[in-house]
Amino acid sequence: MKTNIIYTGDCIKILTEKVDKNSVELIFADPPYNLSGNGLKWKGNKTGGNWYMVNEEWDKMTAPEYMQFTRKWIGACYKVLKDNGSIYISCTYHNLAEVMIILKQLDFKINNVIVWQKTNAMPNMTKRVFTHSTEFVVWAVKGKKWIFNYEKLKKINPEKQKDGSVKQMRDVWLLPLVQGKERLRGKDGRALHPTQKPEEMLKRIIIASSEKGNTVLDPFLGSGTTAIVAKKLGRNWIGIEKNKKYVDMAKKRIFVYME
Ligand SMILES: C[S@@+](CC[C@H](N)C(=O)[O-])C[C@H]1O[C@@H](n2cnc3c(N)ncnc32)[C@H](O)[C@@H]1O
Repeated sequence: MKTNIIYTGDCIKILTEKVDKNSVELIFADPPYNLSGNGLKWKGNKTGGNWYMVNEEWDKMTAPEYMQFTRKWIGACYKVLKDNGSIYISCTYHNLAEVMIILKQLDFKINNVIVWQKTNAMPNMTKRVFTHSTEFVVWAVKGKKWIFNYEKLKKINPEKQKDGSVKQMRDVWLLPLVQGKERLRGKDGRALHPTQKPEEMLKRIIIASSEKGNTVLDPFLGSGTTAIVAKKLGRNWIGIEKNKKYVDMAKKRIFVYME
């Protein structure tokens, strides 16, 4: 099986045809949340730039279509995961319920629902609900012998005890939305990918649930965040992305800027 490679295409097909069964220690998946066209259109809003507008064709499905799609891709991930493997799935409140139900139906054990508290969350334009400032990452495992590098996580935890000593990593992560140098932007200053995830989030996940030399797979690679962090941390990686524009962007990020 090839590693350190980006496949262009649909993840369900590629997981089935190109990735060996029981071969991957860790999967991070940041799937479509099915929120485009459902009132989250930020066009024209200048606060913080336009980069957070999520209104993409890949993100529009009916509720039954979304349920079926979620079952298919999580099922395909189950097959390629090793028996001690972990899957981390990034969710918003839009798709958390579907993801949790399907993980349970497929016999995954849910270990944590990590809360990502965005320290620079977008203001609430409607003024009709509490301002959303969180996303979730569901951590589920296939068998009983999952990897959890508890001590290593303590060392990288920015939160310290009162006396300055290391502290257990909790399940609430305070991280900003990607900005500054880390944010990939075009010449016009606009974000190149609407949902680029923070490298710090992937660092914690990869250190928590894999070892050096293991294989980390991302079925919705987007701008390549998982691959770049896996590479930095000495893991092998496999990325799948169906949009050629994003594949080219990720390749440039991983193979040009990093080499
Ligand atoms: C939420 S974004 C992932 C962003 C990524 N985590 C990052 O940091 O850039 C989801 C990505 O999945 C891709 N995608 C959607 N459906 C797909 C499918 N069936 N197979 C493969 N990729 C898909 C989209 O093109 C989009 O880039």
